[in-house]
Amino acid sequence: MQITTTTVTFNHQLFEDSFIIGLKAPDVAKIARPGQFVMLRRSDEAWAQRLSRPFSLCRVEHDVLEIYFQVHGEGTRMLADCVQGDNIELYGPLGNGFDISPENDLNIIVAGGMGVAPFPFLALKISQICEKARNIAFVGAKNKDHLHNLDYLGEVGFEVRASTDDGSMGHHGVITELFDIELKSLLEKSQKRMVYACGPKLLLKKTAQIAAAQGAGCQIAMEERMACGTGACLVCVCKTRDDGDWKYSRVCKEGPVFNAAEVIFD
Ligand code: FES
Repeated sequence: MQITTTTVTFNHQLFEDSFIIGLKAPDVAKIARPGQFVMLRRSDEAWAQRLSRPFSLCRVEHDVLEIYFQVHGEGTRMLADCVQGDNIELYGPLGNGFDISPENDLNIIVAGGMGVAPFPFLALKISQICEKARNIAFVGAKNKDHLHNLDYLGEVGFEVRASTDDGSMGHHGVITELFDIELKSLLEKSQKRMVYACGPKLLLKKTAQIAAAQGAGCQIAMEERMACGTGACLVCVCKTRDDGDWKYSRVCKEGPVFNAAEVIFD
Protein backbone atom coordinates (compact mmCIF):
# COMPACT_ATOMS: atom_id res chain seq x y z
CA MET A 1 0.00 0.00 0.00
CA GLN A 2 1.38 3.39 -0.93
CA ILE A 3 0.57 6.99 -1.79
CA THR A 4 1.15 7.55 -5.48
CA THR A 5 0.70 10.49 -7.81
CA THR A 6 -1.00 9.04 -10.86
CA THR A 7 -1.60 10.55 -14.28
CA VAL A 8 -4.96 10.45 -16.04
CA THR A 9 -4.60 8.53 -19.31
CA PHE A 10 -8.28 8.89 -20.37
CA ASN A 11 -11.64 9.88 -18.94
CA HIS A 12 -14.64 8.63 -20.92
CA GLN A 13 -18.25 9.51 -20.32
CA LEU A 14 -20.27 6.30 -20.75
CA PHE A 15 -23.66 7.80 -20.06
CA GLU A 16 -24.88 11.10 -18.62
CA ASP A 17 -23.64 10.39 -15.09
CA SER A 18 -21.30 7.40 -15.65
CA PHE A 19 -17.59 7.62 -16.41
CA ILE A 20 -14.55 5.40 -16.69
CA ILE A 21 -11.19 6.95 -15.91
CA GLY A 22 -7.73 5.48 -16.52
CA LEU A 23 -4.89 6.22 -14.09
CA LYS A 24 -1.30 5.32 -14.81
CA ALA A 25 0.04 3.69 -11.66
CA PRO A 26 2.51 0.87 -12.49
CA ASP A 27 3.45 -0.04 -8.90
CA VAL A 28 -0.19 -0.31 -7.80
CA ALA A 29 -1.20 -2.21 -10.95
CA LYS A 30 1.45 -4.83 -10.18
CA ILE A 31 0.06 -5.76 -6.76
CA ALA A 32 -3.68 -4.97 -6.99
CA ARG A 33 -6.21 -7.77 -6.55
CA PRO A 34 -9.89 -7.92 -7.61
CA GLY A 35 -12.20 -6.55 -4.92
CA GLN A 36 -9.62 -4.14 -3.53
CA PHE A 37 -10.18 -0.40 -3.70
CA VAL A 38 -8.18 2.82 -3.85
CA MET A 39 -8.68 6.24 -2.23
CA LEU A 40 -8.46 9.09 -4.76
CA ARG A 41 -8.11 12.86 -4.48
CA ARG A 42 -7.18 15.44 -7.09
CA SER A 43 -3.74 16.99 -6.72
CA ASP A 44 -4.88 20.61 -6.97
CA GLU A 45 -6.07 23.42 -4.75
CA ALA A 46 -9.71 22.98 -5.64
CA TRP A 47 -9.60 19.70 -3.75
CA ALA A 48 -7.57 21.02 -0.81
CA GLN A 49 -10.35 20.84 1.79
CA ARG A 50 -11.75 17.53 0.58
CA LEU A 51 -11.28 13.98 1.78
CA SER A 52 -10.13 11.23 -0.55
CA ARG A 53 -12.92 9.05 -1.96
CA PRO A 54 -12.96 5.22 -2.24
CA PHE A 55 -13.30 3.57 -5.66
CA SER A 56 -13.27 -0.08 -6.72
CA LEU A 57 -10.74 -1.25 -9.26
CA CYS A 58 -12.78 -2.07 -12.35
CA ARG A 59 -9.92 -3.29 -14.55
CA VAL A 60 -6.14 -3.30 -14.52
CA GLU A 61 -4.65 -3.08 -18.00
CA HIS A 62 -0.84 -3.29 -17.87
CA ASP A 63 0.13 -0.26 -15.76
CA VAL A 64 -3.23 1.52 -15.95
CA LEU A 65 -5.98 1.23 -13.33
CA GLU A 66 -9.49 1.71 -14.68
CA ILE A 67 -12.08 3.15 -12.31
CA TYR A 68 -15.79 3.08 -13.14
CA PHE A 69 -17.73 5.77 -11.27
CA GLN A 70 -20.94 7.74 -11.19
CA VAL A 71 -21.27 11.43 -10.42
CA HIS A 72 -23.30 12.04 -7.29
CA GLY A 73 -21.61 14.97 -5.59
CA GLU A 74 -19.07 17.69 -6.01
CA GLY A 75 -16.11 15.33 -5.48
CA THR A 76 -17.11 12.90 -8.22
CA ARG A 77 -18.04 15.87 -10.46
CA MET A 78 -14.47 17.13 -10.09
CA LEU A 79 -13.20 13.66 -10.98
CA ALA A 80 -15.47 13.64 -14.03
CA ASP A 81 -13.90 16.95 -15.10
CA CYS A 82 -10.36 15.51 -15.13
CA VAL A 83 -8.65 15.31 -18.50
CA GLN A 84 -5.69 13.38 -19.89
CA GLY A 85 -2.47 14.50 -18.17
CA ASP A 86 -4.09 15.65 -14.90
CA ASN A 87 -2.62 14.29 -11.69
CA ILE A 88 -4.62 12.38 -9.09
CA GLU A 89 -3.28 11.23 -5.75
CA LEU A 90 -3.97 7.60 -5.01
CA TYR A 91 -3.69 5.69 -1.75
CA GLY A 92 -3.79 1.92 -2.02
CA PRO A 93 -4.55 -0.74 -3.01
CA LEU A 94 -6.65 -1.19 0.13
CA GLY A 95 -8.82 -3.94 1.61
CA ASN A 96 -8.74 -7.69 1.24
CA GLY A 97 -10.21 -8.54 -2.18
CA PHE A 98 -12.06 -11.65 -3.39
CA ASP A 99 -10.83 -15.15 -2.73
CA ILE A 100 -10.71 -17.30 -5.90
CA SER A 101 -10.22 -21.07 -5.64
CA PRO A 102 -8.71 -22.78 -8.70
CA GLU A 103 -10.88 -25.81 -7.83
CA ASN A 104 -14.14 -23.98 -8.51
CA ASP A 105 -16.10 -25.49 -11.38
CA LEU A 106 -18.77 -22.77 -11.21
CA ASN A 107 -18.32 -19.05 -10.51
CA ILE A 108 -21.35 -16.79 -10.34
CA ILE A 109 -21.29 -13.00 -10.21
CA VAL A 110 -24.34 -11.06 -9.02
CA ALA A 111 -24.15 -7.29 -9.55
CA GLY A 112 -26.60 -4.43 -9.23
CA GLY A 113 -26.08 -0.87 -10.54
CA MET A 114 -22.61 0.45 -9.77
CA GLY A 115 -21.98 -2.85 -8.00
CA VAL A 116 -20.68 -4.17 -11.32
CA ALA A 117 -17.55 -2.01 -10.85
CA PRO A 118 -15.20 -4.62 -9.33
CA PHE A 119 -16.29 -7.49 -11.56
CA PRO A 120 -14.46 -7.03 -14.87
CA PHE A 121 -11.17 -7.37 -12.94
CA LEU A 122 -12.50 -10.36 -10.97
CA ALA A 123 -13.90 -12.01 -14.10
CA LEU A 124 -10.55 -11.79 -15.87
CA LYS A 125 -8.73 -13.34 -12.89
CA ILE A 126 -11.33 -16.10 -12.59
CA SER A 127 -10.94 -16.92 -16.29
CA GLN A 128 -7.17 -17.24 -15.75
CA ILE A 129 -7.32 -19.20 -12.47
CA CYS A 130 -10.35 -21.49 -12.99
CA GLU A 131 -9.63 -22.61 -16.53
CA LYS A 132 -12.32 -25.28 -16.79
CA ALA A 133 -15.06 -23.61 -14.77
CA ARG A 134 -18.44 -22.46 -16.04
CA ASN A 135 -18.74 -18.75 -15.30
CA ILE A 136 -21.96 -16.73 -15.23
CA ALA A 137 -22.65 -13.06 -14.49
CA PHE A 138 -26.07 -11.77 -13.41
CA VAL A 139 -26.05 -8.00 -13.88
CA GLY A 140 -28.95 -5.64 -13.16
CA ALA A 141 -29.47 -1.89 -13.53
CA LYS A 142 -32.34 0.59 -13.62
CA ASN A 143 -32.33 0.71 -17.45
CA LYS A 144 -30.25 -0.41 -20.46
CA ASP A 145 -28.19 2.79 -20.48
CA HIS A 146 -26.89 1.95 -17.03
CA LEU A 147 -25.84 -1.61 -17.93
CA HIS A 148 -22.09 -1.38 -18.50
CA ASN A 149 -19.20 -3.85 -18.80
CA LEU A 150 -21.41 -6.66 -20.17
CA ASP A 151 -19.34 -7.01 -23.36
CA TYR A 152 -16.12 -7.31 -21.38
CA LEU A 153 -17.61 -9.97 -19.10
CA GLY A 154 -18.57 -11.91 -22.23
CA GLU A 155 -15.09 -11.48 -23.72
CA VAL A 156 -13.47 -13.15 -20.71
CA GLY A 157 -15.79 -16.14 -20.94
CA PHE A 158 -18.73 -15.27 -18.71
CA GLU A 159 -22.28 -16.08 -19.79
CA VAL A 160 -24.15 -12.86 -19.11
CA ARG A 161 -27.74 -12.53 -17.83
CA ALA A 162 -29.10 -8.99 -17.59
CA SER A 163 -32.10 -7.37 -15.99
CA THR A 164 -33.50 -3.84 -15.89
CA ASP A 165 -36.02 -2.25 -13.57
CA ASP A 166 -37.89 -0.73 -16.55
CA GLY A 167 -37.67 -3.79 -18.83
CA SER A 168 -35.59 -1.95 -21.48
CA MET A 169 -33.14 -4.89 -21.65
CA GLY A 170 -33.14 -8.45 -20.37
CA HIS A 171 -35.37 -9.63 -17.54
CA HIS A 172 -37.94 -7.03 -16.42
CA GLY A 173 -37.30 -6.84 -12.68
CA VAL A 174 -34.44 -7.13 -10.22
CA ILE A 175 -31.45 -9.34 -10.95
CA THR A 176 -31.85 -11.47 -7.83
CA GLU A 177 -35.10 -12.82 -9.30
CA LEU A 178 -33.18 -14.26 -12.27
CA PHE A 179 -30.42 -15.51 -9.98
CA ASP A 180 -33.01 -17.25 -7.80
CA ILE A 181 -34.72 -18.87 -10.82
CA GLU A 182 -31.48 -20.23 -12.32
CA LEU A 183 -29.31 -21.09 -9.32
CA LYS A 184 -30.77 -24.52 -8.53
CA SER A 185 -30.19 -25.95 -12.00
CA LEU A 186 -26.72 -24.40 -12.20
CA LEU A 187 -25.71 -26.05 -8.94
CA GLU A 188 -26.88 -29.49 -10.07
CA LYS A 189 -23.91 -29.76 -12.44
CA SER A 190 -21.36 -28.35 -10.01
CA GLN A 191 -19.21 -29.78 -7.24
CA LYS A 192 -17.42 -26.64 -6.07
CA ARG A 193 -18.90 -23.20 -6.62
CA MET A 194 -18.77 -19.65 -5.40
CA VAL A 195 -21.09 -16.66 -5.68
CA TYR A 196 -19.60 -13.13 -5.66
CA ALA A 197 -21.96 -10.19 -5.13
CA CYS A 198 -21.72 -6.41 -5.08
CA GLY A 199 -24.41 -3.73 -5.16
CA PRO A 200 -27.08 -2.20 -2.93
CA LYS A 201 -27.56 -3.76 0.54
CA LEU A 202 -30.89 -5.28 -0.42
CA LEU A 203 -29.24 -7.10 -3.34
CA LEU A 204 -26.46 -8.37 -1.06
CA LYS A 205 -28.92 -9.57 1.54
CA LYS A 206 -31.14 -11.31 -1.00
CA THR A 207 -28.18 -12.90 -2.81
CA ALA A 208 -26.76 -14.14 0.49
CA GLN A 209 -30.13 -15.67 1.45
CA ILE A 210 -30.63 -17.38 -1.92
CA ALA A 211 -27.06 -18.74 -1.98
CA ALA A 212 -27.32 -20.02 1.62
CA ALA A 213 -30.66 -21.70 0.92
CA GLN A 214 -29.07 -23.62 -1.99
CA GLY A 215 -25.83 -24.42 -0.15
CA ALA A 216 -23.56 -22.21 -2.26
CA GLY A 217 -20.68 -20.23 -0.78
CA CYS A 218 -21.04 -16.49 -1.18
CA GLN A 219 -18.63 -13.57 -0.90
CA ILE A 220 -20.06 -10.06 -0.82
CA ALA A 221 -18.24 -6.77 -1.42
CA MET A 222 -19.71 -4.20 0.97
CA GLU A 223 -20.01 -0.53 0.06
CA GLU A 224 -19.97 1.99 2.91
CA ARG A 225 -19.10 5.66 3.30
CA MET A 226 -15.41 6.02 4.08
CA ALA A 227 -13.20 8.76 5.44
CA CYS A 228 -9.71 7.36 6.13
CA GLY A 229 -9.82 4.05 4.25
CA THR A 230 -7.23 2.61 6.61
CA GLY A 231 -9.15 1.43 9.68
CA ALA A 232 -8.65 4.50 11.89
CA CYS A 233 -11.91 6.49 11.85
CA LEU A 234 -14.61 3.74 12.17
CA VAL A 235 -16.92 5.53 9.72
CA CYS A 236 -17.34 2.41 7.59
CA VAL A 237 -18.34 -0.30 10.09
CA CYS A 238 -20.88 -3.06 9.47
CA LYS A 239 -22.21 -5.73 11.85
CA THR A 240 -20.68 -9.20 11.62
CA ARG A 241 -21.19 -12.43 13.59
CA ASP A 242 -18.77 -13.25 16.39
CA ASP A 243 -19.05 -16.61 18.16
CA GLY A 244 -22.80 -16.42 18.87
CA ASP A 245 -22.56 -12.68 19.42
CA TRP A 246 -21.85 -9.81 17.02
CA LYS A 247 -19.25 -7.11 16.54
CA TYR A 248 -18.51 -4.17 14.30
CA SER A 249 -16.11 -4.84 11.42
CA ARG A 250 -14.44 -2.14 9.37
CA VAL A 251 -15.37 -2.44 5.70
CA CYS A 252 -12.11 -0.74 4.68
CA LYS A 253 -9.89 -2.99 6.77
CA GLU A 254 -11.57 -6.37 7.44
CA GLY A 255 -13.42 -6.03 4.10
CA PRO A 256 -14.62 -4.83 1.74
CA VAL A 257 -15.16 -8.51 0.85
CA PHE A 258 -16.86 -10.64 3.52
CA ASN A 259 -18.13 -14.17 3.69
CA ALA A 260 -21.87 -13.48 3.31
CA ALA A 261 -22.68 -15.82 6.20
CA GLU A 262 -20.73 -13.53 8.56
CA VAL A 263 -22.60 -10.31 7.78
CA ILE A 264 -25.66 -9.22 9.77
CA PHE A 265 -28.08 -7.22 7.62
CA ASP A 266 -30.36 -5.09 9.83
FE1 FES B 1 -11.97 4.93 8.39
FE2 FES B 1 -12.88 2.56 7.50
S1 FES B 1 -12.95 4.46 6.50
S2 FES B 1 -12.09 3.01 9.46
